[in-house]
Amino acid sequence: MSIKSNWCSCTKCHAGYGWKDEAFDACGKKDGFCFDDPSRADCLICHDTTGTYDKKKNTCGYPNESVDLDKVARHVGKPVRANCGTCHWYGGGGNNVKHGDMGDTLADPDPDHDVHMGALDFTCQECHTTESHRIAGRSTTSSVSEGKVSCTDCHERTPHDSNSPVLDRLNAHCDAIACQTCHIPKYAKQTKTTTRWDWSQSGQPSKTLKKTDQMVKKISKKKGVLVEQKNLTPSYDWYNGTHRRYLKGDPVNLDGVTYLNPPMGDIDDPEAKITPYKLMKSKVPADKKLGHLIVPKLHNGYFTNYNWEEAARKGMKAAGLDFSGEVTFVKTVMHWRLNHEVAPKQDALSCLDCHGTEGVMDFKALGYKGDPAATGGRTTKEGSKQ
Ligand code: HEC
Ligand code: HEC
Ligand code: HEC
Ligand code: HEC
Ligand code: HEC
Ligand code: HEC
Ligand code: HEC
Repeated sequence: MSIKSNWCSCTKCHAGYGWKDEAFDACGKKDGFCFDDPSRADCLICHDTTGTYDKKKNTCGYPNESVDLDKVARHVGKPVRANCGTCHWYGGGGNNVKHGDMGDTLADPDPDHDVHMGALDFTCQECHTTESHRIAGRSTTSSVSEGKVSCTDCHERTPHDSNSPVLDRLNAHCDAIACQTCHIPKYAKQTKTTTRWDWSQSGQPSKTLKKTDQMVKKISKKKGVLVEQKNLTPSYDWYNGTHRRYLKGDPVNLDGVTYLNPPMGDIDDPEAKITPYKLMKSKVPADKKLGHLIVPKLHNGYFTNYNWEEAARKGMKAAGLDFSGEVTFVKTVMHWRLNHEVAPKQDALSCLDCHGTEGVMDFKALGYKGDPAATGGRTTKEGSKQ
């Protein structure tokens, strides 16, 4: 999916006042604007303190007409969590849908939900330090970044009491295991997040297929089959600070699974640590002959007449990609790194949560011979320890 050809519904978050078509991103051309033109930047979305500033309707980046701009302009202040949340909590079409560790519960969370934003009442920018509007923090999916944020910006690299033999064991784990792995044992604790999305089933009448307290499986006419779940155990992978990324026009695996942004690093990479992720499994449209993903025109396109070929023709043209005329569906997996919903210390993963018979980790899949408490850690394996 892409912003190209879907401007008006997407640009309320993919910011820019009046970003309604290609011309917006056309420095120097008639009626064109530059992305760095400050008159197109929406300051109020982050600096409104009234909570009334709203662009929920598809207004091409402008606020809804009902907003009292005079009142808003008189009440500007430092961003609170809900300002950032206007965009970051609702990506992918709803609350907590995309990330799984970021939804509107963070506006006013219990201490158990997130220690920093709950018990300690941190703003987002307390961790995502901001200088001259450069907001630090690496995204999992997009390659832009204005600096990184780490748990160790504030905490020691070995934060556990080294006088206690058991707690010092935890410190010894910090070379191979990210802080988040033990401290975010569950995610989407209170609000369901989308974990499966099968676009190939769209166009059928909407209905609920299965519903329990922890999950919902449904058909949405527009979007296809969706599975939403909560209180999930993360999936674990080695991550050395970079993700590979699928870019527009790259080839996909037409028969198997394409990983759109897998983390880089493995057990032999000393920079890599075991890191928690939400996995998003989807079936998305691809060009059957040319073997790349399709950028469909959704609004005033697929969502109106449910014709993939037509939506593909229009969307691919706007995206500047070739389209053979034939649509198929391919399996993709996206990785979403978990950094929020840090639990109180007593809920962190401890020895038996990983080394017990019901341990949360598949050690073999991570590259170990077996449970490393018995077979040795990655440095013992290499024989290079001490
Ligand atoms: C409610 C706000 C919101 C809307 C509406 C929105 N996005 Fe996004 N989108 C985001 C945010 C925020 C990010 C940055 C990553 C993140 O925090 O989710 C993002 C990231 C993306 C990415 C990068 C990969 C990914 O999945 O994160 C793509 C592609 C994307 N959006 C496409 C779209 C398209 C296409 C539309 C319109 C159909 C759209 N977005 C509408 C908030 C939004
Ligand atoms: C994406 C969110 C965002 C947008 C959009 C945004 N700001 Fe900010 N702004 C911030 C954050 C975060 C801070 C730091 C607040 C803090 O110190 O807690 C900040 C700080 C400021 C400050 C205080 C001085 C400083 O630089 O620290 C001013 C003045 C300001 N912004 C004006 C603006 C103006 C004018 C615009 C529109 C051109 C704008 N902001 C758009 C997030 C934003
Ligand atoms: C108007 C919608 C909007 C608001 C409000 C907003 N963001 Fe974002 N933010 C985005 C989008 C869209 C991206 C993805 C940018 C891209 O991929 O080019 C993003 C990216 C990010 C990233 C990932 C790193 C990067 O530079 O891409 C971080 C971290 C972030 N925002 C934090 C914040 C914080 C903190 C606030 C509140 C002070 C905030 N955002 C407010 C839309 C928004
Ligand atoms: C306790 C610290 C902390 C707080 C508070 C916090 N974050 Fe983060 N966030 C992180 C860390 C650490 C990362 C990983 C950044 C990196 O690797 O550079 C991250 C990553 C992100 C990303 C990138 C997500 C991805 O995987 O693509 C976004 C967007 C983001 N945070 C938004 C927010 C917003 C919005 C808030 C407030 C509601 C917030 N954060 C509050 C620590 C925090
Ligand atoms: C192997 C799992 C594991 C890893 C990795 C881990 N922790 Fe912990 N951490 C725990 C457990 C379990 C506790 C609770 C210990 C106790 O009983 O006091 C804890 C406690 C803490 C505390 C509270 C300490 C206190 O004395 O009050 C902080 C702060 C903390 N961890 C931060 C971190 C940071 C930062 C990292 C990464 C550098 C990290 N942890 C890595 C499992 C881990
Ligand atoms: C901007 C600074 C900052 C960042 C970044 C940060 N923390 Fe903290 N954290 C604190 C402070 C301050 C406290 C409260 C004092 C303490 O316990 O150390 C705290 C407390 C904690 C606690 C103890 C909670 C309890 O129950 O007492 C844990 C665990 C923890 N942080 C883990 C993390 C993890 C994991 C990350 C990265 C995702 C992280 N922190 C990022 C500042 C930060
Ligand atoms: C989050 C899962 C997790 C938790 C919690 C955890 N471990 Fe481990 N443990 C691992 C992994 C992964 C390794 C391999 C680390 C490496 O490759 O260096 C390991 C390695 C070990 C080793 C072998 C060390 C070596 O270098 O040969 C021992 C012994 C051990 N753990 C004991 C413990 C004890 C005791 C605790 C509780 C204080 C604990 N573990 C908590 C996952 C965990």
